[in-house]
Formats: sequence, C-alpha cells, structure tokens
Amino acid sequence: MSAYQTFGRTAKAFAISALMMSVAPAPLLAADEGAASWPVVASAVKADAAIEARVSEILAKMSVEEKVGQVMQAEIQFVTPDDIRKYHLGSVLNGGGSLPNRNKHATPGEWLALADSFYEASVDTADGGVAVPIIWGSDAVHGHNNVIGATLFPHNIGLGAMHDPALIRKIGEVTAREVRATGIDWTFAPTVAVARNDRWGRTYESYSEDPALVKSYAREMVLGLQGEPGTPDFLNGNHVIATAKHFLADGGTTAGDDQGNAEMPEKALRDIHAPGYFSALEAGAQSVMASFSSWNGTKMHGNPYLLSDVLKDRMGFDGFIVGDWNGHGQVPGCTNVSCAASINAGLDLFMVPEDWKGLYEHTLTQVKAGDIPMQRLDDAVARMLRVKLRAGLFDGGKPSTRGVAGRDDVIGSPEHRAVARQAVRQSLVLLKNAGGVLPIKPSARILVTGDGADNIGKQSGGWTISWQGTGNVNSDFPGATSIYGGIADAVKAAGGIATLSEDGFYKEKPDVAVVVFGEEPYAEGQGDRDTLEFEPGNKRALATLKKLKAEGIPVVSVFLSGRPMWVNPEINASDAFVAAWLPGSEGGGLADVLVADAQGKPRHDFTGRLSFSWPKTPMQDTLNKGQKGYDPQFALGYGLDYKAKGKGPGKLAEDVEGVKAPGMDDIPLYVGRPLAPWLVFITDDTAGQQLSGAYAALRTGTARANVVDKNVQGDALLVEWLTGDRAALALRDGPVLDWSGYYTAGATLTFELKTDKLDAMAVGFGCGADCGGDVSLAKVPDVGAADAAGWRKVSVPLVCLADSAENFSHVTEPFRLSATGVMKATVANITIDLTEEGVKACPFP
Ligand code: BGC
Ligand code: BGC
Repeated sequence: MSAYQTFGRTAKAFAISALMMSVAPAPLLAADEGAASWPVVASAVKADAAIEARVSEILAKMSVEEKVGQVMQAEIQFVTPDDIRKYHLGSVLNGGGSLPNRNKHATPGEWLALADSFYEASVDTADGGVAVPIIWGSDAVHGHNNVIGATLFPHNIGLGAMHDPALIRKIGEVTAREVRATGIDWTFAPTVAVARNDRWGRTYESYSEDPALVKSYAREMVLGLQGEPGTPDFLNGNHVIATAKHFLADGGTTAGDDQGNAEMPEKALRDIHAPGYFSALEAGAQSVMASFSSWNGTKMHGNPYLLSDVLKDRMGFDGFIVGDWNGHGQVPGCTNVSCAASINAGLDLFMVPEDWKGLYEHTLTQVKAGDIPMQRLDDAVARMLRVKLRAGLFDGGKPSTRGVAGRDDVIGSPEHRAVARQAVRQSLVLLKNAGGVLPIKPSARILVTGDGADNIGKQSGGWTISWQGTGNVNSDFPGATSIYGGIADAVKAAGGIATLSEDGFYKEKPDVAVVVFGEEPYAEGQGDRDTLEFEPGNKRALATLKKLKAEGIPVVSVFLSGRPMWVNPEINASDAFVAAWLPGSEGGGLADVLVADAQGKPRHDFTGRLSFSWPKTPMQDTLNKGQKGYDPQFALGYGLDYKAKGKGPGKLAEDVEGVKAPGMDDIPLYVGRPLAPWLVFITDDTAGQQLSGAYAALRTGTARANVVDKNVQGDALLVEWLTGDRAALALRDGPVLDWSGYYTAGATLTFELKTDKLDAMAVGFGCGADCGGDVSLAKVPDVGAADAAGWRKVSVPLVCLADSAENFSHVTEPFRLSATGVMKATVANITIDLTEEGVKACPFP
C-alpha cells in the first residue's frame, strides 16, 4: 500500500470533522446508499513502484512552503517567472482568451518562450529548494482553441452526433499534438458532462444527454489525448494529460443553471452523471476538475464525500483533482484567498488565477496551525508529483525541446484539418429534405446567405481564441474555411456559381439558396437561456427564409447552434434543414455533404444522428430520452439521409406554449459580454483597438481596457485613460441598424458606471460620418447617486442624443463613453431600454 492511500483515510476523517465545524451542511444521502454503491474503477495506469519511490523521495525534501506552492495554479497574466521561482508554484494556466504577451496573434514561438521561462524558474534551485517542473494547463476543448491557426474541431455536441468513438480517439491525438507544439502538457478536457437541460449555456460542451454515449467517448478521448497506457505512446512527446470535468453533475443542475445545484438522489448522480468518469478513469485520466456546481446544496469544491470517499477511495483515482476558476471561493466560509475546507475535502490543486499569493499565505498558515492536516497536504503534493513523473516532466528538459514542441508543421496541418473536416461531415444531422432539394448539383447557381455563411467565428462558437468566442473575424483564422468558402470550392470545378450575400439579395435569380444562421458565440454563464426558442420576439433569419421562399427559390437552412432549439417556423419555411452545430475551422465539411458530384450523386451521405432530443416547444424541460412525459419534436437518434430518401416532417406546429410575441424588446448591448453584432473598441483621435479576449491597449498609449468582474465573471469593462488625452470606449463594427422606432417610442440608453470623475465623461452614439451625439454626464440628473460599491445607474433618453428619429435610422455605433483626463471608469449592463411612453423632450439641458 502506498503512502498516499493511508493518508487518504486519515485526511478524510479530518476533512469531515473540519467540515462539521464549519458552516457547510453534510451531503444528503439516502440511508441505503453510500460509497459502497459506487464502482471500483481499475485504471489502465498502474501504480509503479519506481515512481512511488521517487514521489516519496522528492516529497521528503520539500519544505512546507514548497508544498503549499505546489498546490497553487496561477494564471499567466498574473504571475511572473520570478514569482514561480520564489513561491515554487506547481502550475499555471491560461484562461480562455488569455494569450502570451496579451497578443491575440501570439506565435507558437511566443507560447514556447513563455513555457520555457516558467519551466526554468520552476527548476531553479538557487534558493536551496527542490526542482519540481511546473505544469501548464490550457482549455484545448475543441482543438487547441486559444491558438491562432490551430485546427478547430466541432464542439462536443456535434461530435456526439457522429456516434463514432474511433474518430474521437483520433481527434484526441490531433489535439494533443497541437497542444504539445506550443510547449503545454495538459488540457482541461474532455468535458464529460451529461447535459440534461439544454438551456444550459455549456450544453455544446456535452457529447450527449445519453450517459452511455458520453461513457464511450470519454474513454476514447482520454486514450487519444494521453496515449494508450502501457505503450511507449503513453504521455510521450505527442500526448498531453487529460482532465475529466466537471466533477460531478455540472450538466444536471436545476433549470440548467450554470454553476447551479444538481438536486437528485445519489443513484441518479451515479447512473446519469458519472459514467463518463468511470471510463475516463479506466483509460487512465490523470486529472479531474471539480465542478463549480453543488449536489443537493453542497458545493462540489467542499464535498469530502464525493471528492475523497467516492472518487479517490472507492473509485481508486490516484491522479490529482484540480479546482475550477476560484471555485473554492464559493464554498461557504471560504474566500478566493482562504479555503482550508476545499483542500480538506480532497482538492489537490487550487485554480486561483489572480489571488494566488493571498491563498498561498493563508494556506501556509492553516497548515502550520493544523487546520489543514500535513498528511492531506502531503497527499495532494504526492498526487501532483506522481502525475508529473508519469508525464515525464522531470526528465524531459525545457518545454521547447520536448516531443513535437516547436515544429512548424503541426499546428493546423493538412492532415489534422482532414480529420476535423471528416468530423464536420459526420456531425451534420439532416432534419428535413422535402422535394429532394439536397444534394445540390455542382453546376447550380447557388446563393449563399445568412450571417453565418462566411463567418468562421460564428461557426466556431465559444472557447475560440477568446473565452466567449466573441470578437473574432475571418482573418483570425488562417488556414480555415468558412461554409461559403467550402461551397464555392465545391462548385467551381463543375461550372456552378456560388454567390455570397449577407442579406439575401441577389442580381440573378439563383437555383437554390443556402441560408446559414444560428446562435452567436457564447460560453459558460453567458450562454444560459430562459427558453429554447431561437430569436424570440424578433425572427430575423425567418424573415430571410420567407423572403426567398416567396420569390420561388428553394431554401436549404444550415443551422449553427450549441444546442437543439425550437425552430419550427424556420423549419417550416425551409425545404431542407441541417443541424450543423458548431463545426469549427473546417467549414468545407458542409459542402462535402450538401453538394453532389458532377453526376448529381451525393459525395457523402448524412450519417449524423441526434445525440440530444429536439424540442417541440420553447419551454420543454423534460427533453431527455427515458424521462416521464418525453415528447420531443425529433427524438434522440433522429436524422435523415440520402439513402433512405426520407423527407422529414410535414408542417410543424408554430402556435405552441411559450413562444414570445413578436415586437420590439430591450436591446442588450453589453450584458455579461459584448452582444453580437457589436464589437468592443477603445479609440482616440488617431487609433482604434478592438478588445477581443480580455485586454486591449491603444498603440498610442492613451488608454487601455480590461474585462473585469462585477456580479459575474467578465461582465464589466474597465477603461483606463492614461495620458489625459480624449479617448473612448465604443461598441461598433456591426451592421447599420434602424432604431428610429426606439427613438419614437421614447427608449433610453442605460448602463451602470463606476468612476470618480463623472464630470470628465460623456456618453453618446454614432450614425456615420458627422452624425451622432454625445451628452456630458455632468448634465444627467440622478447620476450622482452611487451604491455602496460605487456603482451608479445612468439612463439617457435617446432624445437627448439626437434631435430627430432620422439620426437613429442608421446607427453604426450604439454606445460610446468618452473622457478627457487621467482617470478610470468601469461600465456594465449597457442596454437600450424600451419604454412605451413615446418621445418627449430631453429632460435635462
Ligand atoms: C474562464 C477564463 C476566462 C475568465 C474571464 C473564467 O471562468 O475560464 O478562461 O478568461 O473566466 O473572467
Ligand atoms: C471553466 C473550466 C475551465 C476553466 C479554465 C472555468 O471557468 O469552468 O471549464 O477549464 O475556467 O479556463
């Protein structure tokens, strides 16, 4: 029996008593259940005596300070090599959109240089410490998606529709190689969530609502990422450590709330939400990420029963448990900088992006005071060392010299893209094909339209270069293909013509129209929805479909989405309807299936079948196969193909419960994130810089902006005016919009603001050259009152910004906040609020 196993029990006993003394309630268990009802999982990675001996040997040499450093994971923007050297930190991560040198177009060389500098600091023993190589983790969740030029695979929901575990393994292999090429050893994937409520914004990160499919995929993804245990492939220079996340039941929360509460008996927890962990651990997954969510009211980050008794002691997991982004700070009684309860519950590595120094200090004090038993800390450190040894970090040299690191033929290589393109083809689910409009003859005149037609950012979704996937343009994706690009290539040889038109207008009448539309990119939290209706209240895509139909043009809809949605009107208005999910960088996979060969025969059939049930109403919450009252529009497993020549449904019901009445509505501009179609910019008189990801600075040095947290992660923008010259934060670069109706209805521009230099600021809008208006905040009444945290709500009637509705008929910049003076301001929740009072005179001078 190895040392850590003995520690496990002791630590658990401590953990439980520590927990009882603190505020967290014990988990609710039915009397007849408990750890014994969970399976013992035999990992393919066997304990190795030589490795265990080295673990003990290294551990014995480490000081308590070094041990505490080892269980801290800092974020690359908030830590320097000197910090790593001084505090002996065990790990770093880069968050979504957080890139070396804050450079969106960072080259693989920049990634490697940063990885090397962290590594060298971690093995520097000048202070007499022990050399323990640092480990860097990154969210390579659909390919190495933070890196420019990487191969981007369909998000997991699309992969689920393939029903092809063998291809999943290949995808894991390709992803691992691209990650290794940048000197990174570890990915926070796969997500093995079983999403049970599609209103959850992370539904697309889930392979399926069906635990059996998730289980079969989790195994293969882990084998692909890490390599086959017991062979020379295992964690060699082509492979990375995998993370099964988020433990447990992140996809089972009530109402699909992100970071919510999974209320269910233990049996459901085990049988629905845990199967992906069983197979991932069997395949040898070396890390597991704790979920932000709770089970029956207890936060997973503070649940000793599930983290220690079940996962470690019963299932036999001997790798490490990493926390999620400050997830420990959400445990009752904890803060981001202090949480003995988490480590006592079984967490081995704190993900503490910014506040690692405070947490380090408190943890050290808690260990010295005995609030964290030394055995528990030793166990956590032993787990870190074991995994690092298994991954060869101690003997591998610096990251740029390991395996495929630094090779320039790896990231986005043609072979890798071919695997992704195959995945795209296999992920497409054909919901309708009336009148045999598909496949399209390559000699046809094809109109390709819709805002997703030539938009690689939109087809890639969240977790793409930036965290929420917003703010990307096609030039951010060298080597990638849009859906239009793929169709154009496919018809060129056969004499057909594909014409791109964003808005559906054409000169010569086409034989067929392909309309690509769907959800705008989003990620965790910000993707949660009240209903599953697509474009509630304002059906823009539907209007395009209806217009084309009315002109007698057959319509093929390609729907981009991170979840099944209620689109009955859109399906009714289409001759063919394809659920394409979020295909990623290889949009050419669409044309492979949609466009026939020269003889008119399909080049590839539709083999994708739904891995999520499709809703019959916007409000359907019991939408999982096997649930009582299961009554989907399209059942799990549904999907037409060319062979069977199915046509799909007749007319679908449109007048169902929960559909939002059409009409004007408030317009969110920046609520939690910039809402498409707008991009966030900082500008001055000579320069403009887009904020994509978390940071932007003007080249002129006048101002910089940062995404910061107000109520939830990343929901506010901090602007700093650095020189005193006039500069502004602006939303712009969307289509020109007609808001004259809002002007006449008496709408207001509303936002929240925190600053101590109100008088220096003005708010306004733009409507093209020499058109627009600004009003000084010094003039706006009521703006003076700030809450305890310094936030004020500012509300400016549109009528104060322009003297006629005409100006609002072509809005190009719906919001700008400008200032002169050295100062700071934070802004959040920018919306156009609809009041039905009608236009009145501006109430202030
Ligand atoms: C994400 C990060 C992201 C950050 C922004 C986190 O939850 O995981 O990747 O950069 O939030 O606040
Ligand atoms: C997400 C994780 C992710 C982590 C690091 C968190 O906000 O929930 O899935 O791995 O950030 O970016």
